[in-house]
Amino acid sequence: MTNNLKTSITNAWDAAWNKGDVTVFDQLTAQNYQRRSTRSTTTTGLDAIKRDILAIRDAFPDLTTTVDHIVIDGDERDCKAAVYWHSTGTFTEPFGDVPPTGTKVVTHGSNLLTFDAGRIALEEATWDTSALLADLGLKSLSSAFDQDTEAVWDNLDGAPTKEALKAFNRQFITGVTVVTTMDDEGKPRGLAVNSYNSVSLEPPLVMVCVQKTSSTYASLFGASHMGINILGCNQRDTLRTFASKGADKFADLEWHQGPNGSPLLDGSSASVEVEIKERFQALTHTIFVGRVRASESTDNDPIIYKAGQFFESHELTPLD
Ligand SMILES: Cc1cc2nc3c(=O)[nH]c(=O)nc-3n(C[C@H](O)[C@H](O)[C@H](O)COP(=O)(O)O)c2cc1C
Repeated sequence: MTNNLKTSITNAWDAAWNKGDVTVFDQLTAQNYQRRSTRSTTTTGLDAIKRDILAIRDAFPDLTTTVDHIVIDGDERDCKAAVYWHSTGTFTEPFGDVPPTGTKVVTHGSNLLTFDAGRIALEEATWDTSALLADLGLKSLSSAFDQDTEAVWDNLDGAPTKEALKAFNRQFITGVTVVTTMDDEGKPRGLAVNSYNSVSLEPPLVMVCVQKTSSTYASLFGASHMGINILGCNQRDTLRTFASKGADKFADLEWHQGPNGSPLLDGSSASVEVEIKERFQALTHTIFVGRVRASESTDNDPIIYKAGQFFESHELTPLD
């Protein structure tokens, strides 16, 4: 008898994951069906799993899911069934607001189904979309499809006010960098960024934080490497160019490629080429963390940025 159940589970998995027919679950699930993720500890319903399956299939058009093993404990109509499966696919289309990286992933998971009167009442899954993002090397505090993103990030309202935070930020002095990369067509792209920071010297890690609405964002997200150029005082025009939108920001510039192809701007105070290692999802921004692979520096004085203004740096007065 349990062979019938195994066949119907395998067929449902195949119809939903490999053919996109998520309606198969309508027949298989109980009215009060719940899906619990043991990883993110979230509980969702049938609509959410249907939506996730379709979104994942859109993002991974070559997705193939195989049921490897099913273990059944109990009578067919009131039993527990453990489903072991694996999927392979290539991330070639956007997944929520996450741009494709072209990465091929193999993901394994197991789901424990509790049947009540012949229908799945509870599904406990070791896998959810946050696991998929992790498999892709994209670290996220909340999944791209989390219904309750703000709850995951805690209360986003309240003190301090935006003005108070701005006032705080205005007291922080930084330099200005131009973060660059090559797009799919081998065209250089870049934007002005002051959210650069050194993470550690050993290993040599750095980070930048880039807004998802930037026109450079998708290319940067899909890239294996990026350039980070600390702008010098002689590059005021370059800064203007990269702080705005433009079809070809490199048209009037001298630049060269780092060992891995990232555009490095001639005349910068210093430039590094970085291999992108992590892409942390932070709501409106992505924090890129990468390992420095090549470094160039000059004596050109760097631009100083404070409270929305730019300053020369060659006549700084040392304290003590
Ligand atoms: C001083 C300065 C610092 C900036 N820092 C950042 C930053 O850290 N991250 C970011 O996403 N945008 C930053 N911007 C804004 C982008 O440079 C700006 O939105 C740019 O037009 C984006 O260009 P794109 O859409 O062509 O990529 C900064 C702008 C300036 C002037």
